[in-house]
Amino acid sequence: MDRADAAVKTDPSTIFLKDYTPPTHLIDTIELTVRLNDDVTTVSSRLVGRRNPASGSGPADLYLDGEDQELVSLTLDGRTLEKGDWRQKPEGIVVPGIAGDFTLEVEGRIKPQDNTRLEGLYKAGGMYCTQCEAEGFRRITYFPDRPDVMAVYTVRIEADKARYPVLLSNGNRIETGDLEEGRHYAVWHDPFRKPAYLFAMVAGDLMVDRDSFTTRSGREVALEIYVEPGNEGRTGHAMDSLKRSMAWDEEVYGFEYDLDIFMIVAVSSFNMGAMENKGLNIFNDKFILANLDTATDADFQRIEAIVAHEYFHNWTGNRITCRDWFQLSLKEGLTVFRDQLFSADARSAPVQRIRDVRRLRAEQFPEDAGPTAHPVRPDSYVEINNFYTPTVYEKGAEVIGLYRTLLGPEGFRKGLDLYFRRHDGEAVTTDDFLAAMADANGHDLEQFRLWYSQAGTPRVEAEGRYDAAAKRYRLTLRQSVPATPGQPEKRPMQIPLAVGLLDAEGRDLPLGSDGATTRVLELTEAEQSFDFEDVPAEPLPSLNRGFSAPVILKLKLDRRQRAFLMAHDSDPFNRWEAGQRYACDLLLEMADALRRGETPAEDPQFLAALRDLLTDENADRAFRALAGLLPGETVLAGEIEEADPAAIHAARELLRRRIAASLRDELLALYRGNRSNAPFSPDAEAAGRRALKNLALAYLSLLEDQEAQALAVAQYRDADNMTDRMAALAALNERAGPEREAALADFHDRFRDDPVAIDKWLAVQAAAPLPDTLERVTALLGHPVFSLKVPNRVRALIGSFAAGNPARFHAADGSGYRFLADRVLELEPINPQVAARLVLPLTRWRRVEPGRQEKMQAELRRIAAVEGLSRDLTEMVSKALA
Ligand code: TRP
Ligand code: ZN
Repeated sequence: MDRADAAVKTDPSTIFLKDYTPPTHLIDTIELTVRLNDDVTTVSSRLVGRRNPASGSGPADLYLDGEDQELVSLTLDGRTLEKGDWRQKPEGIVVPGIAGDFTLEVEGRIKPQDNTRLEGLYKAGGMYCTQCEAEGFRRITYFPDRPDVMAVYTVRIEADKARYPVLLSNGNRIETGDLEEGRHYAVWHDPFRKPAYLFAMVAGDLMVDRDSFTTRSGREVALEIYVEPGNEGRTGHAMDSLKRSMAWDEEVYGFEYDLDIFMIVAVSSFNMGAMENKGLNIFNDKFILANLDTATDADFQRIEAIVAHEYFHNWTGNRITCRDWFQLSLKEGLTVFRDQLFSADARSAPVQRIRDVRRLRAEQFPEDAGPTAHPVRPDSYVEINNFYTPTVYEKGAEVIGLYRTLLGPEGFRKGLDLYFRRHDGEAVTTDDFLAAMADANGHDLEQFRLWYSQAGTPRVEAEGRYDAAAKRYRLTLRQSVPATPGQPEKRPMQIPLAVGLLDAEGRDLPLGSDGATTRVLELTEAEQSFDFEDVPAEPLPSLNRGFSAPVILKLKLDRRQRAFLMAHDSDPFNRWEAGQRYACDLLLEMADALRRGETPAEDPQFLAALRDLLTDENADRAFRALAGLLPGETVLAGEIEEADPAAIHAARELLRRRIAASLRDELLALYRGNRSNAPFSPDAEAAGRRALKNLALAYLSLLEDQEAQALAVAQYRDADNMTDRMAALAALNERAGPEREAALADFHDRFRDDPVAIDKWLAVQAAAPLPDTLERVTALLGHPVFSLKVPNRVRALIGSFAAGNPARFHAADGSGYRFLADRVLELEPINPQVAARLVLPLTRWRRVEPGRQEKMQAELRRIAAVEGLSRDLTEMVSKALA
């Protein structure tokens, strides 16, 4: 065991699910007073609590978490406690011997202006705001900061009236007034019990966009979106998304909003996407602000999805919350599932499904296959912030989808209704959720639990055999789950696989007497066979339709068969999938040839199949645009052991050029045919046109001829929306030269005062596959717009380089790795949460060839050796080196 390994295994602060115990004391009410000042902010709290009957009776230690603050005084039932009456712990205090009902008053001081971690109360731009999930509340005041302690909050905020005219917290505003010396106050009361992680407050000079929503039972809810001055007029799309989310949740699940006011505040420095604080969502401003000339179609879609996600948490997360942080997917998986369904209803369902699966494969599959793999419900953690992962979110959402596939939409709804009848107002576990699904449907879900406890992406190998005499098609399925850290042995899972069979003309065969053309097979054993009777001739199988289960499916098909599925599969997801599989096989073969110094052979069959798909007038344009995108380099590397990132990059570039050259006429026709003179609209139809046109542009720009080259220059110049402008900029960005420089300079000048747009400028440069990219990125660190203190800037410049530019990040000399490690170490003392996320690409060293492996590990060791490293980075780096 090396030193880094020992660090994790023996770290006393590793927290285990099996050690969970209920809280010794409950807090019924908290009255919090926050007096904001430029130098020192004072926080007083008055807790009324009692011994928790579920934990026992008689005197017990009351533990209060607290960090990064000065404790001024503690008063228990009116008596001021002396030193000796309580004990100091490394990250909190203990007040011993509390037996019954009690009132505890706590006075403390904090300095939000120095809080660069962006956890707790901090200053962002000119305003104060909070981020308490997961464990930020303890940085505001001493409190039992765990989600199973739920209290009713009354919050009084005091601040300078001129500079902070707007004072917000959760629930309803019950009182406001003026104080001496130009100060004022507001008091907020939230009638719903909530855990501390859902507390929020904001103070600032903010502009507000007001609207309202009438619930189906006729209650009027005030809607307010707050932004910093200068950003007013950019909240229309977020407001519209909010109203549509509210209506959707009533219609689909019967969930009606439960307070009289719902507020959103957009802030410029934020560690993650957004936060579902009760009645007061706080957002990273890039997921709120949109106007036609600064937001792309993808931005419009992301804003809609995240506004919906945070709103949906009001029921799935806030009304029913998590007992402990191991249960995070209880709220996140379920809420992602809900926002995905909302987006599917708002736009095209198959297109949404393809996007969701692309994301799962690009982000979650690599996690499941690497050193930080963990189950949807982890068994242990060192730093909970490291577990806001694609596994908890996206795989967690897939698991919710599996319930729905197994139980049907009505059975799923019955389960959800029972979950709310049983647990509204409580803090519960994923076991409670599963029990509600099982009990409401009388369905045994014992084996299903493995989806929560086993890490690793299941593999399913399929083999079909046709018996002509018996007219029987037999499909044999074998499953296995790979070993992952801490889990060498795995058990077979319950895997619902949606299956169809195609005849020689490409038509779906009826499967069984009801004429259905897709059947869901329930795979529960390590190996199992399924028979299809009365099959007149050998069929071609279409497996895991709609991606019914989050598995890696292996089915040996030849290229002709893949091309056939690309042309004929009635399941749009699998039609897309057939193209991806085909491209993947082809690209890996090409990369191999390139490594051997050979010129890869052309594959006219692939080019013809792709041409037919792209020009299929019966298919949705957004779908065709997705089908025209080759699998990404990281996804390709994930398919093989010890990948050579340079060969994969070269193969993908070569295939892109071959596609451009052989489909030049079709691409030009698509480009011209999908241009539009209509005024810009972000709707799905118009966005689909732009996507297909810009896909064509991306390919055409790779050609050397002048006509093709001129397209991107003209589109950049003439663009009346950000989607087209960015597509043109991205195309120009792939080739060094004056056109590229002119466009980048123009973009900078045009948007210099808009940080959300400037992030696109940083990101596009960091993603350029050009030899001087690292030099350029290094120079941009010194650009006035860049700051390590603003996570959006860090992600745009450094994140886009490390995670979005495999060719340059994996430069053979190790310069990309060194650059990332240097930046991670600079960022770590400022913001350890963001630093621990930034380091991820370095942890995936096992996927690449040995020469690079060595260089990546050397950088990880350099980070691990730093004295006093944060919990966040220690956990990531030691797992990577274990
Ligand atoms: N709960 C948030 C969500 O909707 C996630 C989140 C936002 C978060 N900010 C955070 C998690 C800060 C940890 C730390 O998904
Ligand atoms: Zn969430």
